[in-house]
Amino acid sequence: MTSPVIQNALKKVERFPAPLLSMLFGAKPKITMEKAHTFPASIMHTFPKITASDIAFKHIPKNQPAHIYIQIPWCKIRCLYCRYPSIIKKPNKVEVQKYFIYLEKELMLYAAKLERTKIFTETIYIGGGTPTILSASELTRLFAIITKYCAFDSQAFKIIECSPSTITEKKIQAFKNFGINRVSMGVQSFNRTVLKRIFRSKDNYSRVKTAIRLLRKYEIPEINFDVMLGLPEQTYEIFLRDIETATRLCPSSISFLDMEVWQGCGLYILSSKESVDDAFNRWKMQLVMTAMYQDYLESSNYIPTRPHYYVLPADMRHPSTRVPYLDSRMAGFQIGLGIGALGHIGTTVYRNFATPTAYETALAQNVLPIDKGMRLSAHDAHAMRTIRSLCDETRFPEESKKQYTKIIHFLTRAHFLDEQLKLTATGRLFGSEIMYMLYPKIK
Ligand SMILES: C[S@@+](CC[C@H](N)C(=O)[O-])C[C@H]1O[C@@H](n2cnc3c(N)ncnc32)[C@H](O)[C@@H]1O
Ligand code: SF4
Repeated sequence: MTSPVIQNALKKVERFPAPLLSMLFGAKPKITMEKAHTFPASIMHTFPKITASDIAFKHIPKNQPAHIYIQIPWCKIRCLYCRYPSIIKKPNKVEVQKYFIYLEKELMLYAAKLERTKIFTETIYIGGGTPTILSASELTRLFAIITKYCAFDSQAFKIIECSPSTITEKKIQAFKNFGINRVSMGVQSFNRTVLKRIFRSKDNYSRVKTAIRLLRKYEIPEINFDVMLGLPEQTYEIFLRDIETATRLCPSSISFLDMEVWQGCGLYILSSKESVDDAFNRWKMQLVMTAMYQDYLESSNYIPTRPHYYVLPADMRHPSTRVPYLDSRMAGFQIGLGIGALGHIGTTVYRNFATPTAYETALAQNVLPIDKGMRLSAHDAHAMRTIRSLCDETRFPEESKKQYTKIIHFLTRAHFLDEQLKLTATGRLFGSEIMYMLYPKIK
């Protein structure tokens, strides 16, 4: 018998037959949360070429704390769905050592540009690739380099991404010594058939369970799970078990990610041959799965702070995901270190060279390895503030009410927005489509 969670979700989505969906959101299906979630990174390839001299470092106030993103580019294998660029190999000691020399050089160049002996840092985010592909002693060495150039206070956010198959007790000890206070784990699914199909370790459940036990043993306060929906072989029943298992393990937060098929990801060729009807059905399936996790999580202790992000009240130290390029005010600055890393200085968003050779060549010449970038217009920054206010704790900007009068009228009449102009439960189902209405550039 079909579970009530699935039945309710199906009912919810069936209220929106294809012609109505097309009328509301346009003729073509869009599977998009991940694109909205990673904006402006998601349109970075369209940015023009720039260099460090195009970036106004001198306008950064001396007392402004930094956000720092460090890219660790390697992964053991390429997961079938993955849309992120990575180097597929276990790096040897020499390769890691060489990369660290470049990271250190980048930090040195930034400290000089900012005229600081140590960079006061509010957030450090070590992402990938797979940062935990590094050994415990390599992680300790990386943390020592960071500590040499960055100063933190006790409130600093120190975040690292990890995959459950690469986490060990020694690495967690290294996290603890450095003061990592949030670990974001790529769980994706617990189902063995799905895991096999996407090339992930089949004993994910026991690995995640061990990882979470160790992280708690060392009192790492925040643990986030990334759980994906719309993966190959992932039926409604399998996804429901994924939600149940994830919530039973009680992470501080869960990010649900719609599988997005982008150029460069293993599924791209298949999806480009997909008929419009098949793509539409895939979109509907993801909508049903979205309704499932929304219903399930909202009847548990988790609170939604963004359309796809749920957090336990006790862990709401900061209510949104802290991926640094989501600095919604675009007011501060983020230094991006490493191959293909992203940064921004106020509203100027930039990306480092994405190939090792170009990255290394720039640094060998003592030049910051910045490749592409663009200044977001006042309208871009304003639209980003507006779309983020739909779900987070900030207020819908007053000036946006005039600009978006017609859209607001439509969204409130359709019961997608409430009187406070926050997304309703039905609105959250179409969170990304609504964001596009307000800000078509995300596409
Ligand atoms: C940069 S990855 C790092 C995680 C880590 N390497 C791992 O695999 O466990 C961050 C997250 O992006 C998500 N992701 C990757 N490809 C995606 C795609 N095509 N669509 C949606 N989410 C995706 C996955 O959930 C993954 O955990
Ligand atoms: S999901 Fe993680 S481990 Fe898999 S290819 Fe992407 S970054 Fe690497």
